[in-house]
Amino acid sequence: MMDIREKVRTGGLFQGYAYGYPHKMAYRRLTPPVPLRDAWADEPKEALFLYAHVPFCSVRCGFCNLFTVTGEGAAKNRVIGYLDALAQQTEAVHAALGSGAKVARIAIGGGTPTFLTTGELERLFKLLRSFQSGVSDLPIAIEMSPDSVDADKLAFLRENGVTRASLGVQSFVEKDTRALGRPQKAAAVETALAAMDAARFPVRNIDLIYGMEGQTWEDWLASLRATLRHAPEEIFLYPLYVRPLTGLGRKDKRATDAREELYRRGRDFLLSRGYTQISMRLFRSAKHPGECDVHYCCQEDGMVGLGAGARSYTRALHYSTEWAVGRNSVQEILDYYSATKDHSFATYGATLDLDDQRRRYVIKSILRASGIDLAAYRAVFESDALEDFPQLNLLIEHGAAMLTPTHLLPTLLGLEWSDVIGPWLYSEHVQEAIAAFELR
Ligand SMILES: C[S@@+](CC[C@H](N)C(=O)[O-])C[C@H]1O[C@@H](n2cnc3c(N)ncnc32)[C@H](O)[C@@H]1O
Ligand code: SF4
Repeated sequence: MMDIREKVRTGGLFQGYAYGYPHKMAYRRLTPPVPLRDAWADEPKEALFLYAHVPFCSVRCGFCNLFTVTGEGAAKNRVIGYLDALAQQTEAVHAALGSGAKVARIAIGGGTPTFLTTGELERLFKLLRSFQSGVSDLPIAIEMSPDSVDADKLAFLRENGVTRASLGVQSFVEKDTRALGRPQKAAAVETALAAMDAARFPVRNIDLIYGMEGQTWEDWLASLRATLRHAPEEIFLYPLYVRPLTGLGRKDKRATDAREELYRRGRDFLLSRGYTQISMRLFRSAKHPGECDVHYCCQEDGMVGLGAGARSYTRALHYSTEWAVGRNSVQEILDYYSATKDHSFATYGATLDLDDQRRRYVIKSILRASGIDLAAYRAVFESDALEDFPQLNLLIEHGAAMLTPTHLLPTLLGLEWSDVIGPWLYSEHVQEAIAAFELR
């Protein structure tokens, strides 16, 4: 294994975003398919995270490789069939989990969930309530784009219990959104933000991207300043990754060489304005109502994914539908999902042995400012994190982490190295599976 500092020196800060482990490119067809009833039989189910994926957008942005069908016609024509399938899947998954299953929080992601009309969203909420009554009292997060919201839709979402509204702005500078291949007018962003502010969500989040071609520090600062005018409770700063088969990837576009500098200056700017850094990308204001719901701990509890493109996590099995980026492949997978009659099996995914489970825990913890809780790790795995992963000592040696009596915490440098540390901790077999994945 290459020394982490050498890896940073040779490959730079932006080597891979480890938002899940194993990465979805390590998923394969499961043979034979696994009955969901078996997959969930011995899992703790009293505080589940329910995730519903809405894989539709009006246009495909040049930077985006998320699982989504785009184009007004292609997307609109598929919504009804998709919601029908989602209802069938909800019923099948609920039956497989059994009556003891209890959801503690919900996220509706995409694509762009607010691409749906208010009537369609109403159907989606009804469906979530069929999984569990009283969901409106739980924390509910939703992702939105500026071109798909208005005051009525946002009021509807708030009335239906949405507690975290996240708006993908990416940039307030039109030259920069153009460079991202995202058709967006700055005026439309301000209208959407004013409506989001007025709807009184307890948590408002704004997503920004830095590092597109031609972006200067002045451009980046203008976007950060415009963001702060709304004083959102959360801000995500995403470094631009140009990925294969995306619009930018097909045109051989590259991120600017200034990404590292833009990251550091952006981070320092938000820290100087009273925001706290939660992870490399996430910053929270002092008004934020709290870390995460006490009933849900991000490390240990299961995720139940509904919809094409949604992932589900048990301790030993992660599964989803297939994933693709190319237009035809995404449509094919979505249409297959909508035509599926039996949703009671996992057919595609990755199994996690004990080593993978430990790695997942370590990767997810060390990439957050709260770090690895050493006693919690010991309680779950009956072993010591630093003995299981001696390479963590290198992080301490290089000043990327520090050991306290209870935690291994990433330093400011450690958070800066997140997109190197994550992939550096992947197991060999996961790295091989990712390398062999055929993207379509
Ligand atoms: C589901 S989208 C957000 C909601 C909505 N679809 C939108 O675009 O406004 C998730 C976020 O991931 C970020 N993102 C996606 N692909 C990215 C990439 N290649 N590089 C950097 N950030 C990316 C963007 O900031 C985006 O807002
Ligand atoms: S960035 Fe958002 S709006 Fe654009 S294609 Fe991706 S999911 Fe859709």
